[in-house]
Order: sequence, then C-alpha cells, then structure tokens
Amino acid sequence: MGGTAPGSLRVLCVSRDGSAAAGVAAMLASVPDFVIATRTAGYREALRGARNLDLAIVLLDDDPSAGLDVIEKLRRGSSATHLVAVAPDDDPDTIVRTVRAGADEQLALPLSQHDLFKVCIKVAEAYRDDAGRGEVWVIHGPKGGVGATTVAVNLAVALQAARREVALLDLDVYSGDAAFFLNVQPTNTLRDVVASYERLDAVLVEGATMRLPSGLSILASPGTGRGEPPLEPTMEQAIDVLELVSGMHDLTVVNTPRILSAATRAALLGADRILLVTDLTVPALRSCARTVDWLAGEGIDTAKTVEVVVNRYNARSSAEISIADVARMMRSPVRASLPCDDAAALAAANAGRPLADDTPLQRAIAEIVSPGRPPAETGRIKRARATVFQ
Ligand SMILES: Nc1ncnc2c1ncn2[C@@H]1O[C@H](COP(=O)(O)OP(=O)(O)OP(=O)(O)O)[C@@H](O)[C@H]1O
Ligand SMILES: [Mg+2]
Repeated sequence: MGGTAPGSLRVLCVSRDGSAAAGVAAMLASVPDFVIATRTAGYREALRGARNLDLAIVLLDDDPSAGLDVIEKLRRGSSATHLVAVAPDDDPDTIVRTVRAGADEQLALPLSQHDLFKVCIKVAEAYRDDAGRGEVWVIHGPKGGVGATTVAVNLAVALQAARREVALLDLDVYSGDAAFFLNVQPTNTLRDVVASYERLDAVLVEGATMRLPSGLSILASPGTGRGEPPLEPTMEQAIDVLELVSGMHDLTVVNTPRILSAATRAALLGADRILLVTDLTVPALRSCARTVDWLAGEGIDTAKTVEVVVNRYNARSSAEISIADVARMMRSPVRASLPCDDAAALAAANAGRPLADDTPLQRAIAEIVSPGRPPAETGRIKRARATVFQ
C-alpha cells in the first residue's frame, strides 16, 4: 500500500465512460474518518497514471468483458492496489471472472456508503500491516487505587495533544471508569465487541470506538451494570481486540484493572511498554515486584519493557522508601515520580474530566510522553499470542 498516511487513501474510480465512476467518487468524498484523493476515469484512460494507488474501484456493466480487462491490466501493473469490482448483480459467473481477472473483492449495485467505508477500513488496515503496528503502552497498578487510570487517561490525552493518533482501550471491566474520567458516555463499548466476537473485524471495533473532538479514540469498558456480572474477555479476545485497535492507531494506551485477569495478562504480554503504577507503600511495591517476577517468568525482558511510575510522591517525606530502593527492588527503571496533587485530582475526579492543564500532576504525566527512552520494538502482540496459545 502506498497511502501517504494511515487514513489517507489514493483511489481510482473507473466506469465505461467515467460518469458512473463520478457517482462513486462523490460517495467516497463523504466517507467518514478518511482523507481520500479520488480520480475518475473511463475504461480507456483508466491505466493512465494508475501507479501508486491504494484502491481501484471498477464498475462493470451488463457486458463485463471490457471492465474485467481493465481489472486485469490494473492487477498486472500493481500487486499492491486493492481492486474492487462492482457488478450490476450477484451473477456467480461474473464473480468467478472478476476473481480470475485479479479483483480482491466484488460488490453488487446499488453501492452503499457503508460498503465503501468497509473497503476503506480494510485497505487502511492492510497499509498499517505493511507499515507496522502502532505501539501498545499498558498501564497497570497491581495494588489498586494507586492512580493507574489517572495516568492512563491523562497520558492518552497528552499523547493525542502531542499529535499522535492515540486510542485509549479500557480493559478494566470491573470499574470501567476511563470514559467517566473523560466525561463521555459511549453508547457502544467493549461489551458490544465481545458479544459479536465471532464476526470481529476492524469495522466492528471502529463501530464501538468513540472519537473525541481532540481526535483521541476510546474503546470504553462497559463497567458493571446493576446486578450484571462483569464482562470477562478471554485472553484470545483481548489479544484480537488489541491487535485491531493498535492496527488502527499510532499508539494504544491500555487501562487495566488491578487484578491479573485474562485480559490484563494478554495486554501485559502484548505490550511494547508497561508502566507499573505504585505509591511508596510496602504493599503496593510488593504487588509491583510480584508482577515484575511474573512478567520475567513469561519471558518478558522487564529491564527494557517495564518502567515504574511512582505516584503521590512526596520528596519531603523522609519516612518513605527512596526512588533508588524502588529501582533496585523492581529491576526496572523508575520512569517518573508524580506529585501528590489532591487539588487537581479531586477537581478532575469530581467533574469527571481530565486533569486541568498546567497542574503539577498533569505536567508530570505529560512528561512521560517526551522521549527519553529508546523506541519500543513493536510486534509483541504476535509474541503474546504465541506465548498464550502454544
Ligand atoms: N497524584 C495524585 N494525587 C492525588 N490524588 C490522586 C493522584 N493520583 C490519583 N489520585 C486520585 O486517586 C484516586 C484513585 O485513582 P485511580 O482511579 O486513577 O486509581 P486506579 O489505580 O486506577 O484505581 P483502581 O484500582 O480502582 O482502578 C482517584 O480519586 C484519583 O483522582
Ligand atoms: Mg483504575
């Protein structure tokens, strides 16, 4: 795929004399979430300048031969272009002929905008597969109540503000409060994705993801409804969802519950970067140390992948354990110490909003965004899958 950026596609629409192709181009112009550069052509001029296309849509008419010939030539010219044949009906004979001509898929008239949206997602997905997946950062506070969700949400907000294409995936199905921290009430959540798991694909994930005005995407946890048991995604489900979400974004920040649920384990094993959140109390540090041991036992290079975030840090308190002690105990670097900032945290929690800009806690979390560590190796999700399903 040769798209200039994920979400930006170069598309050629072809029909016998170009006029029907103009109709498809008009539909493409209103497909949400994509920047689409479209060119229309008749069969004769279709091959002119047909290089570096992400997608070509060829409309066949009652006599499909000429259109199929165009598909064949486009396929010969580029193996990377996704080729879609649009037939007047579902005639099986035409389907066989379009496959033989080299089309990747066939749609029937009348075309809907939803059909085109699905095709665009598929093409963008393939592009991202080629370009490598986005990074996955997993935020985990094994003791609970230590500020993991505060870090996850505000880190995602800061990363999005730093112009990365960020998704926040909330796997905390027990409290599911990342959406609340962002002051949004998504209609669809992870429950919808898991409920339709047998037809899981990028379209389903995209449909359950809410895009905020800042550009940040959130796939929210359903939380627990009244009397409803919490949703418990399996490891396989969590890995599949993570793979799809990270395939659609530069960076996916994952909020996890305190317990090592199947979904938490899947996320930790698939992470490019793990931020373990703790305070400087012995129980919290012990929980972190146990998690680091478990990760090491699973074959994760904890010195490289795990970083400790010390929350509610008070440099003036001499009774507390020192940062150097923490690094020694964990065998992982301490990436940040976040100040105790009751004013900012309370105001944000009560309003159900991210931390206000320029509060000490917000600034300290935003600093985690800045470089200071080597770029993560990506591709760990595949390894997580191998570890889990061997
Ligand atoms: N640095 C801080 N200073 C003051 N208050 C904080 C700080 N960090 C988090 N808090 C507050 O502590 C509470 C718990 O935070 P949060 O929900 O982020 O923790 P958690 O680890 O995700 O908890 P849980 O285990 O319930 O998921 C929240 O009310 C939050 O506003
Ligand atoms: Mg939490």
